[in-house]
Amino acid sequence: MISVKSLNLIFLGPPGAGKGTVAKDVVERFGVPHISTGDMLRDAVSAGSALGKKVQSVMESGQLVSDDLLYDLVEDRLSKKDCMNGFILDGFPRNVKQANDLDKILNELNLNLSAVVFLDVSEEEVVNRISSRRVCPKCSKVYNLISLKPKNDMLCDDDGIELIQREDDKPDTVRERYRIYVEKTAPLVKLYTNRNQIVTIDASGPVDKVDEIVFNTLDELSQ
Ligand code: AP5
Repeated sequence: MISVKSLNLIFLGPPGAGKGTVAKDVVERFGVPHISTGDMLRDAVSAGSALGKKVQSVMESGQLVSDDLLYDLVEDRLSKKDCMNGFILDGFPRNVKQANDLDKILNELNLNLSAVVFLDVSEEEVVNRISSRRVCPKCSKVYNLISLKPKNDMLCDDDGIELIQREDDKPDTVRERYRIYVEKTAPLVKLYTNRNQIVTIDASGPVDKVDEIVFNTLDELSQ
């Protein structure tokens, strides 16, 4: 693991771009916590908590959960001690309101954004990646039937549980999620470009290639 100046990052990109996959590899190399709002919300659903009950049907239909719920979730998580030396926000912000909310949270916590890492991938590629994504229902490890196969057919490498397809990865819901991405999230590329905070990564290649580009970028940023 490399010791670096604090990296306060947003990973931005369409559903299935590989944000979670690259973030996990960045965590291993740079030791910053990975804050995936999708994972946090899915954990709440699995746990059957009050939050989980509120958001389950919204998530399954591919719509966005309310900005207010996200504000509380992210504010609480970023306030934790482990975020004081860097973090990767994956899946937040998702619209202009959430970007403004994040400014407010960072300001309150006296933190600055280092960069927004935009994983640029075509719609065709993300649809391919999502249709072959499988996850472990126990530990949430993400696989791909083409690019990141489990060692044993359809079983999690770590706990031997049968892999499943995410409820929102069914074809109709994926199309809806992509539509929402274009309408609500893609404008953030312009917003952060105007602020000179965005780094665009060609994320169309294999995982090790994308990792290499991201690592090089973060090495430069952290010098
Ligand atoms: P969330 O979990 O954030 O979903 P998403 O943004 O749609 O992102 P994904 O998890 O689908 O994709 P990813 O980019 O992480 O790709 P991955 O690495 O898995 O959100 C889910 C839902 O929660 C939302 O719809 C909403 O309801 C709610 N929500 C969350 N945040 C919210 C917010 N801020 N506001 C409101 N609502 C919110 O990779 C995909 C597949 O491709 C995998 O199989 C992987 O193995 C494979 N792969 C990855 N990289 C490569 C590569 N380079 N080459 C080949 N295959 C690859």
